[in-house]
Amino acid sequence: MKDVKDTLLDRVSIRRYEREAIPEETMEFIYNAVRNTPTSYNGQQFSVIDIDDQNLKEQLYEMTNQKQLKTCNRLLIFLSDYNKITLLAEKKGLTVPPFTNTMDGVTIGIIDASLAMMSAVVAAEACGLGCNCVGYLRTVDPLKLAQMLKLPKGVFVVCGLALGIPREHPDHKPKQPASVVFHKNCYNTDDQFLISELEKYDEVIKQYNATRAGGTSTNDWVGHILSYYDHAMEYRILDYLKSQGYDIQR
Ligand SMILES: Cc1cc2nc3c(=O)[nH]c(=O)nc-3n(C[C@H](O)[C@H](O)[C@H](O)COP(=O)(O)O)c2cc1C
Repeated sequence: MKDVKDTLLDRVSIRRYEREAIPEETMEFIYNAVRNTPTSYNGQQFSVIDIDDQNLKEQLYEMTNQKQLKTCNRLLIFLSDYNKITLLAEKKGLTVPPFTNTMDGVTIGIIDASLAMMSAVVAAEACGLGCNCVGYLRTVDPLKLAQMLKLPKGVFVVCGLALGIPREHPDHKPKQPASVVFHKNCYNTDDQFLISELEKYDEVIKQYNATRAGGTSTNDWVGHILSYYDHAMEYRILDYLKSQGYDIQR
């Protein structure tokens, strides 16, 4: 198993995989790491759908056009989940608080599912697997996916995670410098400093994109990310949440 430093600092998203299956004992380790994720109140407001059915993976590829969904060995779908606690509460005749009517209820489920996904990423990386988070599964056709996966009320997709034995070794993507990620004791309100550090970072990304292995581009950082958001703002996530039994009031 890789040490913690290599596991965390050498990680890159892997989108091409060998055909070989992930050993079951590795999957068991990933399951245990996911189960031991810290969660809000220990409420464990998440579940995971583990997809190994090739047919289903192909269907998800058809929906998203993301090849890694059909070539990965396992696809884990991380869900925000208030169904389980509601079932037991109703069985025991307990009043169910309005989890699904508040922003904090929604936020808690998303945080729990996201942390669970990160546990899986770290466990998988430590075992030499490659992985790729696939947020497009959340947005591409949420209603259809909810039907395909038989999601009950109170459950929605947060993110997918494709897993497999790596078949590529992409360059490590430069990340924002510590000077803009970490703020000492309070937020750094020196906008000129932040802008100048971010301009340097924008240039670093431009250089990286111009020279990286496996396909170069002229993209910078800020313009490219904003172009993603232009598209993302079209998603109708609130309507999807309504169909999953959510009615956010406050
Ligand atoms: C929540 C989330 C959603 C993502 N969705 C996608 C996706 O739909 N398709 C994809 O190819 N990569 C996706 N990624 C991977 C990012 O593009 C990737 O992490 C980022 O470009 C940084 O590259 P790195 O992981 O190699 O450091 C996603 C990552 C996260 C955390």
